[in-house]
Amino acid sequence: MKKFFKIIGIIIGSIILLIGIVIGYISIAYPKYDPAPDITVSTDSVTIERGRYLAVHVTGCMYCHSEINTNNFGWIYNEGTEGAGYNWKKIMDRTGEEFPGIIRSSNITPFNLGEWTDGEIHRAITAGVDNEGNALFPMMPYENFRKMADEDVNAIIAYLRTLNPIERNWPRSEMIFPMALMIKMAPKPYEHVDAPDKSNSVEYGEYLVNISNCLTCHSQVSGMKFEPIKGLEFAGGFEFPQATGGITRSANITPDEETGIKSWSKEKFVQKFKEYEDKPFNQKVPEGAFNSNMPWKLFAGMTEEDLGAIYDYLRTVPAVENAVEKFTPPE
Ligand code: HEC
Ligand code: HEC
Repeated sequence: MKKFFKIIGIIIGSIILLIGIVIGYISIAYPKYDPAPDITVSTDSVTIERGRYLAVHVTGCMYCHSEINTNNFGWIYNEGTEGAGYNWKKIMDRTGEEFPGIIRSSNITPFNLGEWTDGEIHRAITAGVDNEGNALFPMMPYENFRKMADEDVNAIIAYLRTLNPIERNWPRSEMIFPMALMIKMAPKPYEHVDAPDKSNSVEYGEYLVNISNCLTCHSQVSGMKFEPIKGLEFAGGFEFPQATGGITRSANITPDEETGIKSWSKEKFVQKFKEYEDKPFNQKVPEGAFNSNMPWKLFAGMTEEDLGAIYDYLRTVPAVENAVEKFTPPE
């Protein structure tokens, strides 16, 4: 009997030691990153305007990094808080959503990034580490942004430099174990990316869909890395609990006849976005009506050419039959 317990003891001891070694290794060896590139972005007005277009209307920088207002249609942020950052715990508290940690979108105005080099900001956007080499929580979609063309990333940096320096200090997001450890493994060194070929509408649309994070919201996710479930890409059904009770779900945007947007013409698709362009920024949701988590007002600022390319690409993704109930009222 004694021998038996001794063996069990040795086995348990070895397992604990092994786990210790793995944790120790990940803590030391990750995150993986290269030195920040030595770049100086041009700050002419055309570049800054291109950066504003991308940061506000395409890539969601301002959507996530400003003071989100869940009472506004599309959860659009309060105007004047561009880049100030946000504590998502406020949304979790209001909607009752559980999350193993606290997410805070950093302040990306010059108040926080003023001392960072252009290269350090570039590396944060595309490779997922801050100026001190700490891994960023991958809700910051650097996995997608690593496929963003250098000239587009640089234009965004030029625009961020022009933001009003709003004085707000946010600690880094906090995750519990083992998530905190896994996050260290998310950053990957960045590689150079050429500008997309605009003459190939499908390819260009794929480029835009990637940097505007359509898939992240338009797919159900699984696992600790919140990865889109294979085979259900763009089929919708991601749930957004609402502060007023009830649930909003993303739509099926695959070219499925019955449950997707196969029947939509390009004109209808573009028009669906454009109808929000002249709506007020802080449009309120009528009492009892449902809110959408689709930032229509922001995406509406995309050019018809870009929206058209997005449509062309979405025609080519596999059609998935998945009927989504977009709004479920509170019980
Ligand atoms: C889906 C939401 C989301 C989007 C979209 C997003 N971010 Fe972030 N970003 C975050 C979160 C959350 C963090 C904080 C991560 C952490 O605390 O580990 C972050 C961190 C950062 C940081 C690090 C700042 C610091 O002080 O360490 C920079 C820089 C940044 N984002 C820039 C951008 C830019 C530029 C864009 C658009 C191209 C963008 N982000 C788009 C959520 C987002
Ligand atoms: C922050 C999450 C989020 C992002 C990012 C997002 N969507 Fe949505 N989208 C939703 C939600 C939620 C709905 C359902 C509610 C509604 O129709 O307003 C929706 C609805 C739609 C619809 C309406 C479909 C229908 O059947 O009525 C289209 C089209 C659409 N999204 C396209 C896109 C495209 C293209 C992108 C990327 C450029 C995108 N979405 C990015 C959340 C998102």
